[in-house]
Amino acid sequence: MITVIGSVNMDIVVQTDNFPIQGETVLGQLFTTVPGGKGANQAVAAARLGSKVQMVASVGTDSFGKELVENLEKNAVNANGVIISDGTATGIANILLSEGDNRIIVVPGANHALTLEHIEKMKETIRQSKFVMMQLEIPIPVIEYSLKLCSELNIPVLLNPAPAGGFQKEFMDYIAYLTPNETECEVIFGLDVEAVLEKYPNKLIVTLGSEGARYFDGEKHVIVEGFKTDVVDTTGAGDTFNGALAHALAQGLDLESAVQYANAAASLSVEKFGAQGGMPAHDDVKKRLEGASKS
Ligand code: ATP
Ligand code: RIB
Repeated sequence: MITVIGSVNMDIVVQTDNFPIQGETVLGQLFTTVPGGKGANQAVAAARLGSKVQMVASVGTDSFGKELVENLEKNAVNANGVIISDGTATGIANILLSEGDNRIIVVPGANHALTLEHIEKMKETIRQSKFVMMQLEIPIPVIEYSLKLCSELNIPVLLNPAPAGGFQKEFMDYIAYLTPNETECEVIFGLDVEAVLEKYPNKLIVTLGSEGARYFDGEKHVIVEGFKTDVVDTTGAGDTFNGALAHALAQGLDLESAVQYANAAASLSVEKFGAQGGMPAHDDVKKRLEGASKS
């Protein structure tokens, strides 16, 4: 089982031809709401691939909260660990899509009502997990507490440091895998990516967008190439990568094969709209991997 301790958001998405500049109003083509939040996305990604997944999170008493819990359950994610916090609205992400890219503002709301007491209550579930997966859209003290608890229980943690702002370098002592994108890696460790990869062999995996991902294996730098595809919406590509990486590692794949599996899953996810819209099943990933080995 994989336990995800993380955020649940409703994504409020607007698509437009051009991002407005400051003070400008532009017309858009589409407005919609779809389930999101880095925690929920990573949970759904791993569950679609066949992992048993437990979600630990907090939503508000509003209709978004109810809808998002139902969405987790519909995707076979166990939502018993999702608390309903009084007096706060469910987290939302305001997503602008344009020019093949996105701009996102997250209002954490109930995600920031997740408490240390709740993590402690989930201790037995955490103890039974093969992996715990976290991101940084929940309070940093909760991250810190969970990291220490997992370390005490000997449960490996995959931390996706997004958004990177709250990351503390001391966390590295408690993490099995850290998966920043290039910008997050720079924010956390500075400009010299090669040096920092060498400092954390087989532990720091930097995602490179369409180029795939890289890490240092103790002797050499390994670049695992991405899969070329037609992009519809990249929102959630990183989450699909992380969910798939945790799934593949939990299945016992070695790191290089697991990263390749995660690249294949993430490349499928960008072909459809919405963070969770394109997240693939295991058979789809298998086909993509087989297609690549033939070409
Ligand atoms: P996002 O914020 O868009 O969800 P991210 O910034 O966290 O993603 P990226 O490095 O952009 O992380 O992408 C994560 C993974 O998704 C990459 O390692 C790659 O496997 C896949 N990916 C991203 N963009 C593309 C693309 N255009 N084509 C194919 N694969 C992609
Ligand atoms: O990684 C994509 C996610 O980031 C979106 O679903 C949005 O909710 C934000 O948390």
